Amino acid sequence: MKAVFFEKTGGAEVLRHGEFPTPKPQRGEALVRVRAAGLNRLDIWLREDKENARNIPMPHISGSDAAGVIEKINGESSLKVGQEVILNPAIPCGTCPRCKKSEPCELVKIFGVKNQGSYAEYVTAPISQFYPKPQNISFVEAAAFPLTFLTAWHMLVGRASLRKGETVFIWGASGGLGSSAIQVAKYLGARVIAAAKSKEDSKQIRKIGADEIVIYTNGNVESVVKNLTNNLGVDVVFESVGAKTWNTTLAILRPYGRAVIAGTTSGDMGTQDLSDIYVRQLSIFGARMGTKVEFEKVLELVGAGKLKPVIDKVFPLKEAAEAQRRMEKRGHVGKIVLEVKSNIM
Ligand SMILES: NC(=O)c1ccc[n+]([C@@H]2O[C@H](COP(=O)([O-])OP(=O)(O)OC[C@H]3O[C@@H](n4cnc5c(N)ncnc54)[C@H](OP(=O)(O)O)[C@@H]3O)[C@@H](O)[C@H]2O)c1
Ligand SMILES: [Zn+2]
Repeated sequence: MKAVFFEKTGGAEVLRHGEFPTPKPQRGEALVRVRAAGLNRLDIWLREDKENARNIPMPHISGSDAAGVIEKINGESSLKVGQEVILNPAIPCGTCPRCKKSEPCELVKIFGVKNQGSYAEYVTAPISQFYPKPQNISFVEAAAFPLTFLTAWHMLVGRASLRKGETVFIWGASGGLGSSAIQVAKYLGARVIAAAKSKEDSKQIRKIGADEIVIYTNGNVESVVKNLTNNLGVDVVFESVGAKTWNTTLAILRPYGRAVIAGTTSGDMGTQDLSDIYVRQLSIFGARMGTKVEFEKVLELVGAGKLKPVIDKVFPLKEAAEAQRRMEKRGHVGKIVLEVKSNIM
């Protein structure tokens, strides 16, 4: 099959479009012909990781989000060959103490890290990870929402318990995760204040649903947020930027406020005044992807048109390096997606 892969880590130039062995579905797996693959920041982390700290198989195909058509099923399933499907990229380990009690997995794996991902004509995954694609969306849209909507839902609903009438501040609002969070928060009935780097981005971020925008590059986020909240601060901060924003995150929380963090795009290390956490009785939640039940909820809402994947730009598979460069330059608003046109079609 054709795939985009890298044999050594480095810049976008290490990505190669070429022949790769077509995977064979093991017992309990399905083989899916990929029609679209969504990009995530994770793809860049894996490709850049000089030490290969995550011990990914090399050569490696990135890609956690996939939508396509079932080609083969090796086992029992209600899904059929020829059916249009999407992939749930959060794969439970099946063996940890929580999995054994049918609770959400504590070691949940991301599709496309320890296994070959979706920048390819075919993928294999456990049959239980595939779901019928909602009829109302295209393959491109279907590949644009699973990882980010699942994570945004888990962060805001499963972890931070965002409620109707509360105010949430969203960092990285132009990104895949942030643009999904805006919609989830609006669906929940919250007021959304979103961070944008420019006036240009802010127009698009408003269209996604943000009620207020703070241009964070002006450097006065704390005072603007205080002005917008009667000097109180926000109930919840949605974090995925990390080192560069963490101090502001805590500063803009109101007493009893909750910060929820799922990423550190600008760096892992932050400092904070620990006394501030107990004096103002703040809560900090970590989040990694989400549960099967949460995935099914998000899928239902996308199918009902209540959450809508936001597409920034679509590239053909062979231009995956260009697509990743667009993400690295922070030129996008919404999701970047690769379209996979197979020779076999
Ligand atoms: N834990 C999980 O399960 C999980 C799941 C999904 C994603 N993530 C993590 O969440 C983060 C976002 O992922 P994504 O796929 O949404 O990436 P993305 O589309 O590239 O979005 C990241 C956004 O963060 C903003 N940003 C980047 N660097 C920044 C900086 N130095 N200061 C301020 N803002 C900055 C950018 O927006 P502007 O340039 O417009 O400000 C960018 O659009 C990544 O760190 C990713 O690894 C974690
Ligand atoms: Zn588990």
